[in-house]
Amino acid sequence: MHVRYDRVWENFLDDNYFPTYLRDIREIEFSDLKSCVLNNESVTSKMILDLLQGDLFIVKNVLSVEQANQVKTNVHEYGQSVPTEDFVEDSCIPNFHCKTHGGQVKDGYDEVGHAYFFYRWNEDILGVFSAINHYWEIIKILNGLGPNGIKENLPKDGIIDRIQLLHYPINTGEITPHCDVSRWQKTNIGINLTERGKHFDSGGFYCLNKKQERVDIEPMVRIGDAICWVPTVFHGVEKPTSSSEIDWSKSEGRWQLLAFTVQSKIMNNRIVSISHDNFKKNPKKVLEEYLFDDESYKEYFNYRRSWSHRI
Ligand SMILES: [Fe+2]
Repeated sequence: MHVRYDRVWENFLDDNYFPTYLRDIREIEFSDLKSCVLNNESVTSKMILDLLQGDLFIVKNVLSVEQANQVKTNVHEYGQSVPTEDFVEDSCIPNFHCKTHGGQVKDGYDEVGHAYFFYRWNEDILGVFSAINHYWEIIKILNGLGPNGIKENLPKDGIIDRIQLLHYPINTGEITPHCDVSRWQKTNIGINLTERGKHFDSGGFYCLNKKQERVDIEPMVRIGDAICWVPTVFHGVEKPTSSSEIDWSKSEGRWQLLAFTVQSKIMNNRIVSISHDNFKKNPKKVLEEYLFDDESYKEYFNYRRSWSHRI
């Protein structure tokens, strides 16, 4: 039955663009979100429309502090024991991790961080999928995909699930303001594995509001809480700071677990993240592209069919 949430998203998008600026910040307990999504269609539909107006939900207590710490520790240890790689998602590649040192502005934005990539087709040895599946399934339902939508997709299907852990090392990690395409699972999952005030003194996640000002989200998000928003809303991460020296081998800094549904890199015309500066040059072009309304593209990709039979 929950597949009908798809109509709430699509009816809005028939006449509107995706949101690009933050409207409001709201808080909800994970248990309340779950109950609402599973049992209350009218309140959930209203929530979807609010997300599409640029509201961001802080979902409290998705993971316990212990679970969040465990995931962070497992992944950091993996990063210390396995060499970095830079695989392209054009086949069933292994999980991997890589470092980006910035200064190589790509598609208008810059990133400094240590990223770890995990895919459903690999064995979940570090427990990253098992830690968040209970939450991701609710988010998939909210997005009209059903609890198992896209889960079994492979790169050849064009759209895949990906978990990315992002470590922003202390006094150096950051990502400049950008927005991400969000056509399939519309809301991103971002679970904090660290906390400002405990692991770093300043910096962290922000979104841009309509006045194009940075709205600091980080102090409202505790370890194990998730942010749930449509990532076409501009966002970035300011450098986490402390009195420590920069050391990429240490786990110090800011950690976030992101779970997306993205185009695999087998797609030739893949739409990439767009910096705020590039967006401002031609907003309408970006907003039109993000709808994927082009018929030839739809025919090639046939994105609905790629998941609908798996619900
Ligand atoms: Fe992003």
